[in-house]
Amino acid sequence: MRKIPEPGPTMLARKYTVTMHRKSLSPSRKEILRNVANKDALLCCLTERIDKEVLEKAGPKLKVISTLSTGYDHIDIQEAKKRGISVTFTGEVLSEATADLTFALILAISRKVVPADKYIRQKKWRAGWSPDLFLGSNVYGKTLGLIGAGRIGRAVARRAKGFNMEVIYHNRRRLETKLEHEMGAKYVEMDTILRESDFLSIHANLNTESSYMIDESKLKHMKNTAFLINTSRGQLIDEKSLIKALKNRWIAGAALDVFEREPLETNSPLIRMENVVLLPHIGSATCQVRSKMSEIAAQNIIGILEGGKTPFMVK
Ligand code: DGY
Repeated sequence: MRKIPEPGPTMLARKYTVTMHRKSLSPSRKEILRNVANKDALLCCLTERIDKEVLEKAGPKLKVISTLSTGYDHIDIQEAKKRGISVTFTGEVLSEATADLTFALILAISRKVVPADKYIRQKKWRAGWSPDLFLGSNVYGKTLGLIGAGRIGRAVARRAKGFNMEVIYHNRRRLETKLEHEMGAKYVEMDTILRESDFLSIHANLNTESSYMIDESKLKHMKNTAFLINTSRGQLIDEKSLIKALKNRWIAGAALDVFEREPLETNSPLIRMENVVLLPHIGSATCQVRSKMSEIAAQNIIGILEGGKTPFMVK
């Protein structure tokens, strides 16, 4: 298990013999393969790829893989199932915090919060208030498009009401009328959401069908004044095409908490661009949420090892 916040490690250490990767960095592939053998349970993060090779090394004793995340696209679920291993996740505990961060990104990119802060720190603010200093775009009253209407998408929609935004959404399946009503959002086709959104925010799960769902052709359909926001998974967007879109001003900007490859390579063109805000995958990073995730991840292991059950099982 990788070093994670409390209380999970203590909960597990009270009951079992725990092998923990003590450094805060992710263990290397070699270290994972060496340490996974002969364990009953594996607690991992989304930074560790748990594939056939790892499961083979683990051997027949492994009963549960508990990931300290809501997403589980880093785990070969089919292979785990074949071997009778339960895979568990941390449920929806991060939805509100991720929705908060989505709004932080919407506001930061449209109101130029990051460059304005830098401007003061770089001691460039000499002239006081100025009529054209850091002119941004309105958020209030604009159209917010949500791709994905799970708990996070819906939590973002609730926040958008306070900004008097018009909310439209696209999802694999249209929501029931009652949910749509609560969300205050109108269902539209992909073409419409691309064409009409001033802010397009991605809240879809990553899988083989959704990978690269935002590609060059989709970016070309967006307004050139629109902003793209992503707090889900980097692989949902073709990053090369996004860079092209930003360079050519097909869209006005992007605010990203997730990337195709993490950490973002230091030579990525995104780093040199002005019309982007970049965050290091911190959607769920509040003390309260991470501690709850740690508790659930540990409880998932205990639940499976002691009684074969937990409410947070990947089906
Ligand atoms: C998750 O849990 O899937 C988030 O991306 C990180 O907390």
